[in-house]
Amino acid sequence: MKRVIEKLEEGVFDREVLKEALLINDEAFNRELFELADKVRRENVGDEVHVRAIVEFSNVCRKNCLYCGLRRDNEKLQRYRMSPEEIVERAKLAAELGVKTIVLQSGEDPHYMPDLLADIVREIKKFGVAVTLSVGEWPREYYEKWKEAGADRYLLRHETANPELHKKLRPDTSLEERKKRYLWLKELGYEVGAGPIVGLPGQTVEDLVEDLLFVREFDFDMVGIGPFIPHPDTPLGREKAGDFLTSLKVVALTRILLPTSNIPATTAMGTVFPGGREIALKCGANVIMPNWTPAPYRQLYQLYPGRICVFEKDTACIPCVMRMIEGLGRKVGRGLGERKRIVETAEGRE
Ligand code: 5AD
Ligand code: SF4
Ligand code: FES
Repeated sequence: MKRVIEKLEEGVFDREVLKEALLINDEAFNRELFELADKVRRENVGDEVHVRAIVEFSNVCRKNCLYCGLRRDNEKLQRYRMSPEEIVERAKLAAELGVKTIVLQSGEDPHYMPDLLADIVREIKKFGVAVTLSVGEWPREYYEKWKEAGADRYLLRHETANPELHKKLRPDTSLEERKKRYLWLKELGYEVGAGPIVGLPGQTVEDLVEDLLFVREFDFDMVGIGPFIPHPDTPLGREKAGDFLTSLKVVALTRILLPTSNIPATTAMGTVFPGGREIALKCGANVIMPNWTPAPYRQLYQLYPGRICVFEKDTACIPCVMRMIEGLGRKVGRGLGERKRIVETAEGRE
């Protein structure tokens, strides 16, 4: 056991070590793993926690991912689209509250793509914030347009790095399509985010090891991790949920593998376990993404059931996460919170 922590400290990240770290089911070991991740976090990205307000502007999706409540075959879900004016207004309010990054997320909704979204990005950039897009798989030209409009970052979680499982759970597309886009997005100068869902039906511990090696190989600027939560109106509705502790270990190991990347304490972590986001912030995470989707739309963005924050006032989450950060003895990020790349020079770290 000691051996595994030592190897992680030494930077030995082979399949055996990562697999053992995930499998060892021992409180003392887990505590050491989490302490190491917290130390790596503090030494590399410090005590600032960056706040990213997320506006889920449309729940329309052309894809049919088996795990997701927004899938096109879910006819029970009432669909919505926010107008560009509503979206920009919401972003403005977040900026006025001191938030430095606005995340625009939606299903894969052709209605906005690409021109309407480019116009929205251009308007929001006037508030002096960073803009992150999380709107799925589109042609390279679209990503180019949005970059020209001022978008800074792009989130496209890889969900699972097992190509067969990926295909099974995401029948419209493939892991290859995802990978192609990571290269485009990097070439275009975006900061790029990925990350797995933990505990997907059919996913093994070996698959999670591959997820960890995948995010390290691509050297993602951001890595979002959360447990699978079954949605009753999907084909996986009767499967069991992903486990909080395993998800937390994946967060901790990701921090150890990618010391300078931005890792959010995700909403899914807070949904499967009370205080789960706070715990994640103590085990490697350094970002939080308060829900900034206005009523009446918020309750309709049903990726999975039981999401926290759905019944709060729609202006509650930004002040709430700021209090959370202070309560943990950390600091609210003051800059844009872009990824810090530590360059090794002859004189040492820069
Ligand atoms: N459980 C957990 N996470 C999910 N997502 C979608 N459906 C689920 C689910 N049932 C996540 C995916 C997606 C992100 C927006 O939400 O990782 O990329
Ligand atoms: Fe659409 Fe994304 Fe849900 Fe897949 S995970 S159905 S692409 S919103
Ligand atoms: Fe939503 Fe606390 S973050 S209510």
